[in-house]
Amino acid sequence: MGRLDSKVALITGGESGIGLATARLFVAEGARVHLAGLREDLLAAAADELGTAAASWSVTDVTEEDEVIAALAQVTDRFGGLDVLFSNAGVSGPIVPITEFPTDEFRRVLDVHILGAFLMLKHGLPVLRDGGSVIITSSIVGLTSNSGISGYATAKHGQVGLMRTVAKEAAARGIRVNTIHPGPTDTDFQRDIEIRATGAAADQAARLFDAMIPMGRHASPAEIARSVLYLASDDSSFVTGTTLSVDGGMII
Ligand SMILES: NC(=O)c1ccc[n+]([C@@H]2O[C@H](COP(=O)([O-])OP(=O)(O)OC[C@H]3O[C@@H](n4cnc5c(N)ncnc54)[C@H](O)[C@@H]3O)[C@@H](O)[C@H]2O)c1
Repeated sequence: MGRLDSKVALITGGESGIGLATARLFVAEGARVHLAGLREDLLAAAADELGTAAASWSVTDVTEEDEVIAALAQVTDRFGGLDVLFSNAGVSGPIVPITEFPTDEFRRVLDVHILGAFLMLKHGLPVLRDGGSVIITSSIVGLTSNSGISGYATAKHGQVGLMRTVAKEAAARGIRVNTIHPGPTDTDFQRDIEIRATGAAADQAARLFDAMIPMGRHASPAEIARSVLYLASDDSSFVTGTTLSVDGGMII
């Protein structure tokens, strides 16, 4: 028995990093998954790896309402419904003081994280089965912040407000809505942030970040995926409206 037997999940940003690690775990636990993302080659390769019986995919920009609606229609046509919505797509944006932060890039970072999650929830809730689960990937900087990341941290905080609101709206249907807050996790996305934030080469930048984490290391994408699985499955059947930090003790 898998913990997601007969469940259907849609994962945004499912072609890489945390999204792909979660797709692998969900399929291993019995789910069928739809990967919605930007990079066609990676989406096709991921679906191929997961197997055509278990996975489908679409090139979907989460900031484009018609593309979000089309991806949701594709999932329900192919798999007959939807039980888990993992809103995970993200971009990091510039790391500069607010006085130098390009306004169009600020807008873009907010669009991907906040408008993207909003559109997924707005159009996903009507097709999500009662008793379903929504998980939004925020970040530790959705609960605290650092200099230079006004766009990313504002977006990640904004997702918490969206989550809390929709958790109340969806509770009567038994649908749970939570945010997950990873600390530094070993993906290309995070390596790029660390190089830009420190000005050091990748290995040294990673060690500088390790030194800020009480457990002394980055998370693996698979470790984050296991916490997403907890929120997606009946193991968390009475958990809604929460912010789950998975950060090796960074926020204590
Ligand atoms: N890696 C970390 O340390 C870390 C820590 C905290 C939070 N996060 C968050 O985790 C999530 C996944 O990040 P990751 O580390 O796996 O990096 P990643 O770059 O592998 O994943 C991000 C994914 O989002 C997709 N994406 C970006 N813009 C999109 C759009 N407009 N529409 C659809 N898809 C889009 C990308 O194609 C990519 O597949 C992000 O929301 C990120 O902010 C990551």
